[in-house]
Amino acid sequence: MTNYPNPDSNSAQLFQRACKVLPGGNSRSTIFYAPYPIFARSGQGCRITDVDGVERVDFVNNYTVLIHGHAHPEISKAVAAQLELGAGFAHPTEAELLLAELLTSRVPSFERIRFVNSGSEAVMNAVKAARAYTERPMIAKCEGVYHGSYDYVEVSLDSSAANWGEDTPLSVPYARGTPPKVLEDVAVIPFNDVERSERILTTHASELAAVVIDVMPNRAGLIPATPEYLTMLREVTRRHGIVLILDEVISLRLGYQGGQTEFGIQPDLTTMGKVIGGGLPVGAVAGKAEVMEMFNHSRGKAPLPHAGTFNGNPLTMAAGHAAMQLMTEEAFARLNALGERARSQLHEAIKVAGVEGRITGKGSLFMIHLKDKPLTTYRDSFKSPEEQQLLASVHRHFLNNGIIIAAGGLGALSTPMTEVEIDQLSEVFLGALRALPQPAAVPA
Ligand SMILES: Cc1ncc(COP(=O)(O)O)c(C=O)c1O
Repeated sequence: MTNYPNPDSNSAQLFQRACKVLPGGNSRSTIFYAPYPIFARSGQGCRITDVDGVERVDFVNNYTVLIHGHAHPEISKAVAAQLELGAGFAHPTEAELLLAELLTSRVPSFERIRFVNSGSEAVMNAVKAARAYTERPMIAKCEGVYHGSYDYVEVSLDSSAANWGEDTPLSVPYARGTPPKVLEDVAVIPFNDVERSERILTTHASELAAVVIDVMPNRAGLIPATPEYLTMLREVTRRHGIVLILDEVISLRLGYQGGQTEFGIQPDLTTMGKVIGGGLPVGAVAGKAEVMEMFNHSRGKAPLPHAGTFNGNPLTMAAGHAAMQLMTEEAFARLNALGERARSQLHEAIKVAGVEGRITGKGSLFMIHLKDKPLTTYRDSFKSPEEQQLLASVHRHFLNNGIIIAAGGLGALSTPMTEVEIDQLSEVFLGALRALPQPAAVPA
């Protein structure tokens, strides 16, 4: 048991110092939690040691990136070997080709691939490729679903009952300063609502370049898309010549051929990031050769010129290749079985504690919800201030008992984990639920 928060801790003091030079104390809003985030010193396997010397099991894994945990020897070796050869060149390298060949040989829809440096860039370039290919201006995306920081895909990311509208979700700005014209070019569809989404897509069909989706969106509650919803999206986009972009920045870790094979959907383009870089910054767009041809710069100016100093940089490519090679079909099966165990034990803890809660997720991912109702849509999973407060107590209990999960309730497993860490997770979760303020508890 540790004592987070503690104003005398090294983390608290680093945070105070950091706030003088970094607005908010660091460069990434998603890793902040109040009153201050714990600063990491090092990571090894499935554990992180913080700057106060406290060790915890890491169930965040840099928001699902680190499928092999920290400092995996094979990945470190690959990066060190590449560093000896040079960190980057204004020349193509075989390292880029090796990762491109590995990914395109695994996933049938990946006829061609291009690398970038983040998931946000991947989504931005996929949207631009779709616009270039169709010569249409609009996109459609699901309400409450995160696809990175490109203005267009941020629309209605955190809309709430106060502004989300009735039947047809409204296009609501996420960030201050979003140009009104951006909102006009984005049709927002309700996740997992076949009828309403089909109606909205059909209304805008002739103007839509792309529909951007995620088969199990984290910000919308890590709720799996229904087969009917995915079938409708594929049929409507095919019928109207709209590019279907599947954002697999997180869901690629669901299986050997990504979320698309697990969910049985064939996108035109896929965006990736996170796991494919072995822990280093990465993104990629892959898909139909005909659409990917928009990037082809070898015959003069490409329809979609696409530069980027660090695109396909050899350090990331070497790390990503080592990480993905280790992810054999057997490795995915083992990790996903551990994920199944985690979800079922967390669910059991909710029942034993007699509190309101649900566990969502699939594969090596889980999300804790502290309410008990069927979760199908973004609006179902939307967290009230009361639920957010309960989740904050659970998060703090985890931190003080040797476990890190994301403040929003997300967890991601890594291959160095065993049943021991899963059992620890569910035991600590039961303790956290038992320690919740009484009004939240429902008599068993
Ligand atoms: C589904 C999805 N798309 C895109 C992104 C953006 O990726 P990045 O943070 O690498 O820019 C994320 C990041 O979490 C994501 O979860």
